[in-house]
Amino acid sequence: MKILVVGSGGREHAIVRKLKDSPQVEAVYCAPGNGGISRDAECFPVNAMDKEGMLALAKEKAVDLVFVAPDDPLAAGMVDFIEAAGIPCFGPNAAAAQIEASKVFSKNLMKKYHIPTAGYEVFSDPAQALEYIKAQGTYPAVIKADGLALGKGVVIAQNEEEAKAALHSIMEDKIFGESGAQVVVEEFLTGPEVSVLAFTDGKTLCPMVSSMDHKRAYDGDKGPNTGGMGTISPNPFYTEEVAKRCMEEIFQPTVEAMNAEGRPFKGCLYFGLMLTKDGPKVIEYNSRFGDPETQVVLPRLKTDFAQIVEAVAHERLGELSIQWSDQASACVVMASGGYPGSYPKGLEIHGLDAGGQASGVTVYHAGTKCEDGKFLTNGGRVLGVTALGDTLEEALNRAYAGVEKISFEGAMYRKDIGRTHRN
Ligand code: AMP
Ligand code: GLY
Repeated sequence: MKILVVGSGGREHAIVRKLKDSPQVEAVYCAPGNGGISRDAECFPVNAMDKEGMLALAKEKAVDLVFVAPDDPLAAGMVDFIEAAGIPCFGPNAAAAQIEASKVFSKNLMKKYHIPTAGYEVFSDPAQALEYIKAQGTYPAVIKADGLALGKGVVIAQNEEEAKAALHSIMEDKIFGESGAQVVVEEFLTGPEVSVLAFTDGKTLCPMVSSMDHKRAYDGDKGPNTGGMGTISPNPFYTEEVAKRCMEEIFQPTVEAMNAEGRPFKGCLYFGLMLTKDGPKVIEYNSRFGDPETQVVLPRLKTDFAQIVEAVAHERLGELSIQWSDQASACVVMASGGYPGSYPKGLEIHGLDAGGQASGVTVYHAGTKCEDGKFLTNGGRVLGVTALGDTLEEALNRAYAGVEKISFEGAMYRKDIGRTHRN
């Protein structure tokens, strides 16, 4: 098989690495890729949103499958476009990708099919949204932009002032563009959060091993929300009993709901869950692999990844039995100073080989570029230093030992990945 992976982050690096392990895979290409990915796969400077360019590349390289990893090309219909030309894809079409691309769509879907989630109302007028929040009079109030917003479209407002400011910036200043034309105002839930990714071909759903993301920028879950600063797998809160409940009350009903809506979902469906005292509830769906969840989940996969990807694309997932390792894994993200705000680029990264060579450590590149044989920073999240271990403790110790060996000016990382839940 020849496979083209669309995207350029740490998630895509983990996907490329895992595909390369498969004896069935002859070549892995990536577009646009990044500095680290270019060491593992031939990269091409085609923008991840460029459907025509991606199809032309897929044809030129005569690939058997295109793996569309990021949310925006999925929402923009890249899979529809490439499949229409006869090349199979891993990833949902635009109609199914709405499950992530529109929070209004996903909330209405959950309500219609009785899938547990936070209570909510939808608004297209900021004044009405504020009136509703004031009338409710309970804080925090959760305000979510309808559309895609780089994982930053959720505001937990502690009081009326903050709610008003959030509504203003999302709906009037339009800091996320048209994504903020509508907002969802929802009930504030509490409880541990769990990420569960699942393979599905629209008929069969196979949950992967669970993980826990750390979304806030600073230690102790403080600071602004980010794309994710680190992950562990398995998630210590995700017991077999919880998993069973999620399968019955959330996962299977979601696949059936999408089929009933005429939007069968094929690819990786991501369930962002909160384990509340009333049971597991959906916080969000994503239409793709999570970043940095993928970096801890895929290394635990024992079954041939390319075989699964192909089975999903050809709707034969039910024929496979997917096996996972019992080891634990941990990923610590090293970010540019200033992230998730503005940050410098082009700083030299030192110690990469040392980090990569530490026992059991893999360094996935997120925002890097390679110039004259040197790796330079090129994004907010720069690296995901990942390790497996027999216990979570061992995986964390190994990942942090890798981090210690790597440096670049202003590098920032959380010191408490995998430890917050014990506080
Ligand atoms: P999302 O981008 O939808 O995953 O939201 C980002 C983060 O906001 C989540 O990981 C939660 O920590 C938090 N969050 C979102 N919705 C709620 C809610 N209804 N109640 C409490 N926290 C929430
Ligand atoms: N880490 C969360 C996400 O990929 O959306």
